[in-house]
Amino acid sequence: MNDIGIWGLGVMGQNLALNFASKGYSISVYNRTEDGEDNIVSDFMDKVDSDYSIEGFTSISEFVSSLKKDKIVLIMVKAGTILDSVIEVIVPLLSKNDIIIDGGNSDYMDTLRRLEYLSEKDIDYIGCGISGGSEGALKGPSMMPGGSFQAWDKISSMFRDISAKDKYGNPCCEWIGKDGAGHFVKTVHNGIEYAVMQIIAEVYDIQKKLLCFDNVTISDNFKNWQTDELKNYLFEITSNLLILKDKDSNYILDSILDKSSQKGTGKNTVIASFDYNIPTPLISEAVNARLISGFYSNRTQLNQFYKMGKISEINKKEVEESLYDGIYLAILFSYLNGLELIRESSLKNNWNIDLGNIIKVWKAGCIIQSDILYFLEDVVLDSNNSESLYLNQKIAKEVNARESSLRKLVVNAILSGTPVSVLSSAVSFIDSLKSLQLPANLIQIQRDFFGYHGYEKINRDGQIYHLDGEV
Ligand code: 6PG
Repeated sequence: MNDIGIWGLGVMGQNLALNFASKGYSISVYNRTEDGEDNIVSDFMDKVDSDYSIEGFTSISEFVSSLKKDKIVLIMVKAGTILDSVIEVIVPLLSKNDIIIDGGNSDYMDTLRRLEYLSEKDIDYIGCGISGGSEGALKGPSMMPGGSFQAWDKISSMFRDISAKDKYGNPCCEWIGKDGAGHFVKTVHNGIEYAVMQIIAEVYDIQKKLLCFDNVTISDNFKNWQTDELKNYLFEITSNLLILKDKDSNYILDSILDKSSQKGTGKNTVIASFDYNIPTPLISEAVNARLISGFYSNRTQLNQFYKMGKISEINKKEVEESLYDGIYLAILFSYLNGLELIRESSLKNNWNIDLGNIIKVWKAGCIIQSDILYFLEDVVLDSNNSESLYLNQKIAKEVNARESSLRKLVVNAILSGTPVSVLSSAVSFIDSLKSLQLPANLIQIQRDFFGYHGYEKINRDGQIYHLDGEV
């Protein structure tokens, strides 16, 4: 009888199976076969080390029967209706207290729906965000489980065994919370991923167009910015990818069409931020930047139509000196946008998410792993999950030390016509957060004038006024 069954032998499913097996667990694997794909299980089994205890199945009932009592089935299929159809097939073969785990990038509301549906059938359900791509799945992913706590109790040691470990050896796998909290946190992880990727792209663009640096110099810069406070996975891969050459010794990056795609988790983060009234401007602008890049044919035409006016001189030295502090502060605010969204939505949903656990889980294995999280761990500890992280004195110190660099980067980029959607939104966000007076009073008077929506007045707590009572 095997410890765990994995349904779905895409690269993530295969690598998770190998990871579990390398830690001494016995695994059953199954993949639904479509026409022309009948070798998926046997092809995988051919690759498996003979020391590993992995059994491949082409029959669903044999796959399920091969599992130990209190069966654990990890489903690694595409999020959405495919997962629902897999659940429909497997549920009749399971009994009370068996556990289904969804390890895909599901929408957290779908996870909640599935949790309620399966609890009626006495099946425990876990929605587990898994980050780190195929390499993470094999060597140790970051894992964000949520849903049925009694199921977590049974799987926690297995999951911690296969997860990534931070630099002190702690597992990057912590209980996140009930409902779809695990998938919600993975969604926000991806929102932060979008923001940091776009910040890196904008800083690459500034160095290329404004400073006229070549790929090697830009690559060296990203390597040099791998400091104790900022070291991160995305800088590491960027630095390598900038100088990756094809067989003809040309940079591959320079041949790639500048049109970025998305699967929807960034969009879902933005939808959640609007649903919960929590601003995440850096993440929203990163999603927008991907959409704008998709206007490829329009951009080619508009390049001919729109001419750039005369501009004042760019200060290249100032730009070069501002790069590191500017990128640091923008990345810091990407994490803060995401963490604040998690903190507030947890309060609103009674998820009781401990932000300290989120930091622990993200420290290694995932795409946004970064040493900035060790600093954020102290910030989160101060705030005790109840106070806005933006109010923290350590954050204020970083803003005060680095804000002028970020501003100089943005000003010079705008003067030179280099788009910096996320960097500029970071500056505007910080400016808005510290504004004693925003022009929202004008919005309010307009709303009341045309829609009788009412407004509050300065120093008159909560009372609603209308123009017709005043004039
Ligand atoms: C991860 C990644 C992974 C995937 C995303 C990105 O944490 O391992 O986030 O989940 O790469 O789906 O998707 P898009 O950029 O295509 O939206």
